Amino acid sequence: MAFKIGLLGLGTVGTGTAQILLDSTGRHPLLQEIEIHRVGVRSPNKPRAVKLPPERLTTDLEAIVTDPDIDIIVEVLGGLEPARSLILKAISHGKHIVTANKAVIARYGAEIFTAAEEKGVYVLLEAAVGGGIPVIEPLKLSLGVNRINSVIGIVNGTTNYILTRMQTEGGEFADILADAQKLGYAEADPTADVDGLDAADKIAILASIAFAGRIKLSDVHCEGIRQVSAADIAYAQKLGFVIKLLAVAKREEPVPTFPTDSDMLQMRVHPTLVPQIHPLASINGVYNAILVEGEPIGQVMFFGPGAGSGPTASAVVSDIMNIAAVLKTAGESHRLHSLLSCVHQHYCAIAPMSELVTRFYARFLTKDSPGVIGHLGTSFGKHHVSLESVVQTGFRGDLAEIVVVTHDVREGNFRHALEEIRALDAVDSIPSILRVL
Ligand code: HSE
Repeated sequence: MAFKIGLLGLGTVGTGTAQILLDSTGRHPLLQEIEIHRVGVRSPNKPRAVKLPPERLTTDLEAIVTDPDIDIIVEVLGGLEPARSLILKAISHGKHIVTANKAVIARYGAEIFTAAEEKGVYVLLEAAVGGGIPVIEPLKLSLGVNRINSVIGIVNGTTNYILTRMQTEGGEFADILADAQKLGYAEADPTADVDGLDAADKIAILASIAFAGRIKLSDVHCEGIRQVSAADIAYAQKLGFVIKLLAVAKREEPVPTFPTDSDMLQMRVHPTLVPQIHPLASINGVYNAILVEGEPIGQVMFFGPGAGSGPTASAVVSDIMNIAAVLKTAGESHRLHSLLSCVHQHYCAIAPMSELVTRFYARFLTKDSPGVIGHLGTSFGKHHVSLESVVQTGFRGDLAEIVVVTHDVREGNFRHALEEIRALDAVDSIPSILRVL
């Protein structure tokens, strides 16, 4: 055996990883040269779906990351600590890292990649975004010659599952979430998924590769799907849209009020009305997809299973194999393969949301009195918001329900118009405001 790995975690992804490595028949022959040397677990005596010699299992994770025999540490523990500290310690001991941990990379990527660069080791993370979908390595290698203009993803399976069921069944968010939790499609604590935080981690990682700069996670505008209602899904459908939680990273020209030397990026996660004919509109259930637009390639879409033991392990083991292949070719004296490693150090400039130019959908509940639509139109007009459609299809109790879709508008202008509209006597509330792709 040429390469020894230390596996931190034997949960869903760790088990899938071990299963691939222990059954190499019909797979790449290099896998036969990779040995699971030690495995860090919480309960060594727990029954496991994968058979490993008991003496390889230990609860002492520190001993694994400092073991001089180990070449590659595979971190599939999840969570921030002890994962972050163990990754840093492993790097300081000259180990290469393969991780599926988007939360750690999105928050501590700067610290981790700086340490890795100093030590001359790889940190690969294909499994951190889109589960089994190859997207990190294609962005680094196959698409590396393109000037990327946008990366737009459905990168959270839980929310896509909930929104798809809301669309097909007409149910409300809370009921479908409760059922998804019962069926195991949503976590007992669904916050990271339904509030968009998991998607924000993932788009920060994708953008840092696509746009070759670091992204501060706090710069990513993040809205989840809790406020999406059955009424919005139904209106969206009538207007020719579906609602998806999109994670968007997009290059835009410098805006006059925030001049910088470089291009600025839009970085945002929010529920979005997607035209039914758009390629992302047909991504349903737990599936993920990432649409990359670049010059000169045009549009490329990556689609597949965004989570699960086997798919995520496929990504993990492909990273292990990539490192093994480079080490095998270059030997001990290897220098970092510049296309696989991450060397940029500057932070990308992120445009403020008030400068975003997009279409909006808004739903208003108003008194059913003469002139209400006229008042809305006047306020929008005053703030340079041009309307594409205005629909009043019915009533909610005593209140009239009015839905508008705007043309492209500066978000700041739209928000000012809404403030004015909210103060109108005839307006009861504005239950939803969504962006349109
Ligand atoms: N919780 C994630 C999702 C899967 O729902 O897509 C792991 O990234």
